[in-house]
Amino acid sequence: MRLLVLLAVSLAVLPSAGRAADKPISFINEVAPILKENCLACHDAKKRNGKYDMTTFEKLLLGGVNGEAIVPGKPDESDFHDLIVTAEDRRMPPRDKGEAVPADKAKVVSEWIKQGAKLDAGLDPKADLVRELRLRWTPPVPPVAYKYPAIVNALAFTPDGKGLVVGGHHELTVWSVPEGVLTKRVRTRAERAYALAFLPGGTLAVAGGRPGQEGDVRLYDLTAAGQTVGGVALLDGVGDPKVMVKQLLDSDDSVLCLAVSPDGKTLAAGGCDRAVRLWDIGAGPAAAKLTQTIENHADWVLGVAISADGKFLATAARDKTAKVWDLKAKESVLTYPEHQQIVYAVAFNKDASLGYSVGGDSQLRTWKLAGEGKGEKALGGHGGDVFKVVAHPTKPVVATASADKTVRLWDMDKAAAVQTLTGPTDFVYAVAFSPDGGLVAGGAYNGEVTLWKQPGDGKPLKTFNATPGLPAK
Ligand code: HEC
Repeated sequence: MRLLVLLAVSLAVLPSAGRAADKPISFINEVAPILKENCLACHDAKKRNGKYDMTTFEKLLLGGVNGEAIVPGKPDESDFHDLIVTAEDRRMPPRDKGEAVPADKAKVVSEWIKQGAKLDAGLDPKADLVRELRLRWTPPVPPVAYKYPAIVNALAFTPDGKGLVVGGHHELTVWSVPEGVLTKRVRTRAERAYALAFLPGGTLAVAGGRPGQEGDVRLYDLTAAGQTVGGVALLDGVGDPKVMVKQLLDSDDSVLCLAVSPDGKTLAAGGCDRAVRLWDIGAGPAAAKLTQTIENHADWVLGVAISADGKFLATAARDKTAKVWDLKAKESVLTYPEHQQIVYAVAFNKDASLGYSVGGDSQLRTWKLAGEGKGEKALGGHGGDVFKVVAHPTKPVVATASADKTVRLWDMDKAAAVQTLTGPTDFVYAVAFSPDGGLVAGGAYNGEVTLWKQPGDGKPLKTFNATPGLPAK
């Protein structure tokens, strides 16, 4: 009993776990992350609940409808602090809307107010806090050998067809084709690569991010020199400007899809912020220029495609629609609603008379661009969500990847299934054709990559796990 009392007393005396008693609290490093985690969902520049915007230090001190919520030096008189620790009905986040701020974090806020609610030296009070936090974050170095498989969200054959680029954890990995031997690892800031596309000159565009934290579109030169260790070239796509040659976008949440126009002049990317951005890349990657930002969907944009004539942009979204946008007139052309489920990916036929889309309804659907969103055909066969649809480089054929653990090939002239490619043992998230169309690659949730020859018997030519150093089962 006495021991318990002693313990309770000593705990109460301790400031907060792991910090020296009077060490000044850093607003940006210690308080801002708590705001981001617990408050900003409702107190950002758009929502401003209680007319309280906390996106900059200046606005945070300004307060909301009832004026200043922070009284420097006096946590007990600060609404801001009271509302976090209160036992009353009115608390923040509101009781019916979220978990209470953990006690150790509330204590940090309290200490910070007690110390005078100061801003770190050198930081602009008008600086966007989320952006400042992002700038301070440094990506981890990927492990030499992974303990767990890395999900394959994206795949792309290198322009010479001899390598396959796969998105890993804070890196891209390159594997020899068809052997499946690891040849290159390229460190990236992004935790995940959601989409990969080679530009005409051989530069690789990568869309990715860290879920809920940040998103990016960056251009990489995979032919840049790196250190070679054990036969594997190691490239630094975080700090080496010869490897990461250009950053096109730095945003608050993941970028999920990418497309290069068939004429190689335009790059499009879309993602969790519901926007699709277009860059003119006609003058080369270094001169890439943002030309249009389109907000046409009510939820995450999961797929993009640009028509061969460069006139139309097709998009697929979590709002259960596919849409087409006229890039010249800058207006929405049609909304295709028939999936009635998440639409994951889109593609065009050669003359852009038809759009193709796939979704959570297991269908590959085709629709006329001139048809105001009227469907043409629904092609069934997959036994689960269809995540990707990609066009063959030369033939009127598309490949689809599905949760039913298969890739399917379809003849779009006949609007009919051609072949089911089997072998994967998990959801197939990514699919790609080699530049000459002679190979198809599928990438799965469990890290497995499967290669099939085309034309072929539908059985795997090669299967390997694209996770560096993963112990064999
Ligand atoms: C789920 C949404 C939500 C979250 C999360 C949230 N708030 Fe609020 N907040 C509101 C709403 C709604 C109001 C206005 C109604 C009210 O004052 O009770 C408000 C008002 C306030 C006010 C009063 C502003 C004024 O001038 O009257 C303060 C202070 C505040 N919030 C602080 C916080 C803090 C600190 C956090 C994070 C720990 C937080 N809120 C998280 C929804 C939220």
